[in-house]
Amino acid sequence: MYEQIQETAQFLKQKMTSKPETAIILGSGLGRLVDEIDVESEIPYSEIPNMPVSTVEGHSGKLLFGRLGGKEIMAMEGRFHYYEGYSMKEVTFPIRVMYELGIKNLFVSNAAGGMNPQFHVGDLLVLTDHINLFPENPLRGKNFPTGPRFPSMHQAYDPEFISIVEDAAQRLGIKIFKGVYLGTSGPTFETPAEYRMFRGMGADAVGMSTVPEVIVAVHCGIRVFGISVITDLGGFADAVKVSHEEVQEAANAAQPRMTALMKELIKKV
Ligand code: HPA
Repeated sequence: MYEQIQETAQFLKQKMTSKPETAIILGSGLGRLVDEIDVESEIPYSEIPNMPVSTVEGHSGKLLFGRLGGKEIMAMEGRFHYYEGYSMKEVTFPIRVMYELGIKNLFVSNAAGGMNPQFHVGDLLVLTDHINLFPENPLRGKNFPTGPRFPSMHQAYDPEFISIVEDAAQRLGIKIFKGVYLGTSGPTFETPAEYRMFRGMGADAVGMSTVPEVIVAVHCGIRVFGISVITDLGGFADAVKVSHEEVQEAANAAQPRMTALMKELIKKV
């Protein structure tokens, strides 16, 4: 694994025209942020050694290098999900590579089901914490020297980033919520009973990504900002079925607001 990370990082270093300190992972239907990036180079995952290839609809699967909000960035358009069959090591492989490339900040976005009764479809949730309900922790196995064997997960989502985004949201008149994201393996959406259980556990939203990447980023000392677009309200609207199309649609509608906040944050990091 370590050799593969090195090999991939070496490959990318040769292709990189700049040395970004911030990486962005664009979640389901949230790829339009790339329209705002002055792209200098883009590399399909299929051309990157050791990189898994994304399969899910709405994820085109490429790495971008360019500028956003006056800063150099790298962006992953499309991520690897546990439900696609990838191992936790594969899901979090790009984070390990980012660390080797010198990334210091990671912004992650995702589509999530809302369980907080205050939410509406299309709302933005800034993550303050998470609950890991994936069947496996990505740090299981031999410890990587990037961090301790038993890393703290306190303030996994950087409080300074959260407060920068809160200020920006207020200035721009963008409504945001703050709360807890619960990560599950999927690919099933939740049963009504599961939504109720997750709400009872203290989660505001539920999704099938993000938590593994955040755990590994924290272990690497990378500062994290996370944001969810609430794409459905399975949690409290009786017998409402969730579909992938609905999730995509709501994600599309929320993109300009999410993009504006990310741009404001990147200016300040
Ligand atoms: N549950 C799990 N994952 C999701 C959901 C949901 O309701 N919406 C978008 N991703």
